[in-house]
Amino acid sequence: MGIAFVNGRYGPLADAAVHVEDRGLQFADAVYEVCAVLNGRLLDWDKHCWRLRRGLAALFIEGVMGDAALGQVAARLLRANRAGDGLLYIQVTRGSARRDHPFPRDIRPTLIMTWKAFDFAARLRHQREGLAAVSLPDQRWARCDIKTTGLLANVLAKQAAKAAGGAEAVLVREDGVVTEGGSTNIWIVDAAGVLRTHPLSARILPGVMRDTLIGLARERQMLVEERAFTLDEVRSARELFMTSTTAPVVPLVTLDGVAVGDGRPGPVATRLADAMWGEIERQTGWRVSGAAG
Ligand SMILES: Cc1ncc(COP(=O)(O)O)c(C=O)c1O
Repeated sequence: MGIAFVNGRYGPLADAAVHVEDRGLQFADAVYEVCAVLNGRLLDWDKHCWRLRRGLAALFIEGVMGDAALGQVAARLLRANRAGDGLLYIQVTRGSARRDHPFPRDIRPTLIMTWKAFDFAARLRHQREGLAAVSLPDQRWARCDIKTTGLLANVLAKQAAKAAGGAEAVLVREDGVVTEGGSTNIWIVDAAGVLRTHPLSARILPGVMRDTLIGLARERQMLVEERAFTLDEVRSARELFMTSTTAPVVPLVTLDGVAVGDGRPGPVATRLADAMWGEIERQTGWRVSGAAG
């Protein structure tokens, strides 16, 4: 059984609890991060801190410990869990108070961190074989750039995708524009061969892996356009793939049961996936070659 951190205390995950009037529970008045840990080392920690701060500022949640202290809590939690490969989950809520919509006065934020093991090596098989995607309407609110725990639309979309035999939901706005995945950013190599992903806006989450991959692609002189695309463009694309902390670069080889491109992982996604594993090794020492595919 793992060790969790809740408001200053480290203890067994099974006993970890917050108050029933916590605003995270009552209103999803909270932000969170999921950080990859490989070989016990955090990947892209600074980017997660940056996004967490940005979300806290957007929600006017104050009084959370600074990044250095947050890093110390994370490091202690990873040690307590003898962390190898897995995911560090962080949630900050506005705190707990008698239920009332406006911000309560004199409230202290709730800070939670948990750890769970995760098999990144299993993603190598997905990378080689590709996964199926299902298009679904994007029913989320107008501030998808804030990583809030209000994930009901994502939950429903991912469940519908799963019921249809897909591993990810490709979310589509009413005007036909593809925003992102249920829990990933979405990319295509379009019919003209251009690598594209939705530009940063309130319609998508600024994914850590999205940012890292843009950097890796540009370092390799690959052209990346942050330019929105429609569902029709996905259907005629050469390649479709997703990025996220838990699925670094994973090709999506079918959409709604129809092959994308030739129905196999394409050369661009494969090259970028290799670049991403290289970056993961650079930051954490984790080696693809040592992992059972
Ligand atoms: C809606 C959504 N988009 C994109 C992502 C990918 O973000 P990251 O690369 O930071 O994991 C996530 C991750 O959970 C997500 O929930």
